[in-house]
Amino acid sequence: MHAGQHLDIPSELRERLRSARSVFVLTGAGVSAESGVPTFRGGGQTGAVWKGMPFEVISSARMVRNNLPELWEWFDYRRGVLSDCRPNPAHETIARWQDRFQTLTLATQNIDGLHDEAGSREVLELHGNAWRARCMSCGGREDLRDKRPDVRPPVCVACGGQMRPDVVLFGEMLPEEVWAIAASRAAACDLCFVVGTSAIVYPAAGLPQAALMSGAFLVEVNPEPTPLSEMCDVTLRGAAGEILPLLDD
Ligand code: APR
Repeated sequence: MHAGQHLDIPSELRERLRSARSVFVLTGAGVSAESGVPTFRGGGQTGAVWKGMPFEVISSARMVRNNLPELWEWFDYRRGVLSDCRPNPAHETIARWQDRFQTLTLATQNIDGLHDEAGSREVLELHGNAWRARCMSCGGREDLRDKRPDVRPPVCVACGGQMRPDVVLFGEMLPEEVWAIAASRAAACDLCFVVGTSAIVYPAAGLPQAALMSGAFLVEVNPEPTPLSEMCDVTLRGAAGEILPLLDD
């Protein structure tokens, strides 16, 4: 949908929005595209290469072992990009939903912290958060905005250990507790929205399928088709920042 172009919200979706009790929302990079955050694959700007290294290499577990300073340089650069980005109407709409539905679960693959900034509470950060560091000795987490940017790697205030970005890197498992909550909520929801994700990175891309398997009504919001599109009850083609506010009652 382009600016000014009218998008019809199917009446069945309006009905589902009225009757839903437990709503599950999975977001990806596309929900932040209108805030200026580069996506990884489709749609918005793509920024997949750093110093000649493909994204999957620079953002991999091996970098923690082999070249932690380079990893920090990459994530310092990414935080630099994020620091100019503010939530858009998609983030703001989802934040309002937490007071609209009996249960609203928001799981995001994004590490930009924009859902929090928009006022969403208890965001399930499946891939961590770029604004946090985690100690490699004691596991302690700290907000990087409270730490000296010139000390790399950052040093843990609790034990003096070296810290790494608190982000899930390629080759790493998702945070167990966060994943367990997301999986159980997805399987228990009656309405599931998938917003701004290419739905190819697992296990996150499996959450909407779990919702579908449990009988939920599945809605995709994305300007482009994804492998999930055919499984959806409704696909809303366009930008999340333009479409989600249309779902307000
Ligand atoms: N509104 C909605 N969707 C959009 C918009 C927009 N304004 N702009 C782009 N999109 C869609 C694209 O069409 C694409 O399908 O967002 C999707 C972004 O896909 P990816 O870049 O693959 O991002 P994501 O799905 O979040 O990637 C998953 O992969 O690289 C890893 O860890 C990284 O969390 C990330 C994971």
